[in-house]
Amino acid sequence: MPKKILIVCLGNICRSPLAEGILRKMIKEKGLDVEIDSAGMESFHAGEAPDSRTQKNASSHGIDLSGLRARQFTPDDFDRFDKIFVMDRYNYIEIMSMVRNKADELKVSMIMDYLYPNGKKSVPDPYLGGEDGFEEVYQLLNSACMKITDLLSENKL
Ligand code: 4NP
Repeated sequence: MPKKILIVCLGNICRSPLAEGILRKMIKEKGLDVEIDSAGMESFHAGEAPDSRTQKNASSHGIDLSGLRARQFTPDDFDRFDKIFVMDRYNYIEIMSMVRNKADELKVSMIMDYLYPNGKKSVPDPYLGGEDGFEEVYQLLNSACMKITDLLSENKL
């Protein structure tokens, strides 16, 4: 059975779809058997494609996000996924308020903890900012996803 990873942000149109695209590309390049999906804690943008600025940034790094559509996180995602990575402390607090048991809780981590263990560092929300913010988010997520891919290929995740 492939390992299943869910990546979560607030709206599922900026950070988590970008992380999904980056991680999918790295997993494919390494030939790993891992399924990746993403979701948002809120439903504001459900059914929408990723933000045009996110798509533009991803394209500049050779990643096509045009086929993705936003959806809201639901509690049964705790059953469907082995690991759940969130972007910031607000996502973390909100998802922790939805855990049903210890097993759910243990699946959740902040994605930047893979770069800075227990640093509780957030990936900033670029939605209301300028284009620079999207490249900063890309660089943070690219570094974290490299580390995650290494751990997956060593069977340590
Ligand atoms: P994301 O960014 O959580 O990275 O997808 C946001 C997208 C939309 C909103 C906030 C953050 N919003 O308030 O609509």
